[in-house]
Amino acid sequence: MVSGNACSLPTMSATFLAAFMTFSVFSLATATNPFITYPNDFVDPQVALGPFGSSLQGAQDTVVAWAEEMNSHGPWSVTFKPVVAPSGDKHDYMSWAPYQWPDCSKVGNKTALSPAQMRKTCPYVFRDGEVNPDRNIPDDFQSFFNLSDAVLYNALAFSFQNQSSTVYSQNVVKFVKTWFLDSDTKMNPNLNFAQMNLGPSGQSGTFTGVLDLRMLAKIASGVLILRKRASSDWTKDVDSQFVSWCRQYITWLQTAPPAKQAAAATNNHGTFYVNQLMSLMVLVGDNAGATTLGRKYFGGLFKTQIAANGEQPMEASRSRPFHYRNFNIAGMITNARLLKYVDPTSNDWNTTSNGATIQTAVDFVMTVNPAKTQETNVTVEIYPNVAAVAATYGDPSGKYSKFLSSSGFPYMDDAFWVWDHPKTLASANAGANTHSNAAFLAVKAGWQSLFGVC
Ligand SMILES: *[C@@H]1O[C@H](CO)[C@@H](O)[C@H](O)[C@H]1NC(C)=O
Ligand SMILES: *[C@@H]1O[C@H](CO)[C@@H](O)[C@H](O)[C@H]1NC(C)=O
Ligand SMILES: *[C@@H]1O[C@H](CO)[C@@H](O)[C@H](O)[C@H]1NC(C)=O
Ligand SMILES: *[C@@H]1O[C@H](CO)[C@@H](O)[C@H](O)[C@H]1NC(C)=O
Ligand SMILES: *[C@@H]1O[C@H](CO)[C@@H](O)[C@H](O)[C@H]1NC(C)=O
Repeated sequence: MVSGNACSLPTMSATFLAAFMTFSVFSLATATNPFITYPNDFVDPQVALGPFGSSLQGAQDTVVAWAEEMNSHGPWSVTFKPVVAPSGDKHDYMSWAPYQWPDCSKVGNKTALSPAQMRKTCPYVFRDGEVNPDRNIPDDFQSFFNLSDAVLYNALAFSFQNQSSTVYSQNVVKFVKTWFLDSDTKMNPNLNFAQMNLGPSGQSGTFTGVLDLRMLAKIASGVLILRKRASSDWTKDVDSQFVSWCRQYITWLQTAPPAKQAAAATNNHGTFYVNQLMSLMVLVGDNAGATTLGRKYFGGLFKTQIAANGEQPMEASRSRPFHYRNFNIAGMITNARLLKYVDPTSNDWNTTSNGATIQTAVDFVMTVNPAKTQETNVTVEIYPNVAAVAATYGDPSGKYSKFLSSSGFPYMDDAFWVWDHPKTLASANAGANTHSNAAFLAVKAGWQSLFGVC
């Protein structure tokens, strides 16, 4: 059980003490959502300090449950994969472009080729939307996603406990050291082999692979939380080694050809490039650089990404438009949060494109039915975006609150609710919650009347 609430037991009546115990067991047993890896986000470390009321208990429990789930998979390292990058260096990150398939019909082999021979010898052809299952063999991308979620959720779980060291802060340090710092397992600070093409004309990374490390924004959030809470596990030594890694990787991001191509992309690749580079700049303390970059994004690229009606034409034309619209919005929100963090006076949430803002883009996606494009399995991607917009712009008409409540998704028990809960929604939802169990509701009502703010 996390201890985010400052409720004092002695003021409870015996009746509600019994109810409290029932509530605790009940909420532990049922109030956590299944793990979802969201495309990206940045959590201002100030938010992680709380205080959190009891209405956030379900969300906090989910954060802890997700930290535990990620912990069961970690630690992660690029050196753990069963294949090695063409450099022959096991410290090189590698992922394969998803839609490429071997065509061995013209290579003239007399016997079957080994998988390694095939990947070098046979030309690869592009089949849009058809994922070659081989792409999961080098699972660095999946490992990095899990690492990023592990760092974010362990850091939050650590922060809930308000101590200088807990098992969660120790996990963050272990995971960061294994992936970035330890001599046996560290990743070289480059993406020379990310989303690489195979075959005789391939064997090097492509600009789309730069997207693989976008979740550095989650890692930055986690590390900033440990710094803010002065975790005794995040030592000066670990910090300076990690900063040094980040500086080297910043140089790669600013100079390597695929990185420059990603920076120049006008769609979500350009948005997420900014997420990544701003996060790294924040980590190394270059807030001025991050501010310049964030302002450049909102003053330039951003303005070309949203039409006046809130549609994002470059994402709408993709094979999975509901996903890509929400994906890019998540990137925009992350950029807005990062810019607000480095420059509290910035007004980036108000920056418009033809009068449209991030809010307009979310309003548009709220009208899109994901079933029309067979995308009901990614419907969840819209919920943190809607919550973030409601939290930032307010919800005077109650439309965001209504959208979330009528979705059937237990958003108040989701991890993002810890940092996306808007005061407006909290009051709009007073009395409402995602549990239908009558006993739970009765106990919760008693709990609220007893503790007021808790
Ligand atoms: C050549 O190698 C490919 C890949 O292993 C295999 O599918 C194909 O059957 C081989 N051709 C011959 C003639 O053995
Ligand atoms: C990442 O986490 C997911 C969800 O728990 C799990 O299914 C997957 O196996 C994990 N992969 C790695 C490489 O940790
Ligand atoms: C966190 O701990 C500090 C020092 O132990 C204490 O002063 C503070 O009140 C605590 N904060 C919360 C929210 O419990
Ligand atoms: C959703 O379904 C599509 C098409 O079946 C698939 O390619 C994609 O990986 C799925 N996404 C998730 C998050 O399950
Ligand atoms: C937009 O700008 C106005 C005027 O400066 C300000 O009151 C409001 O809070 C801003 N809204 C957001 C979401 O930043």
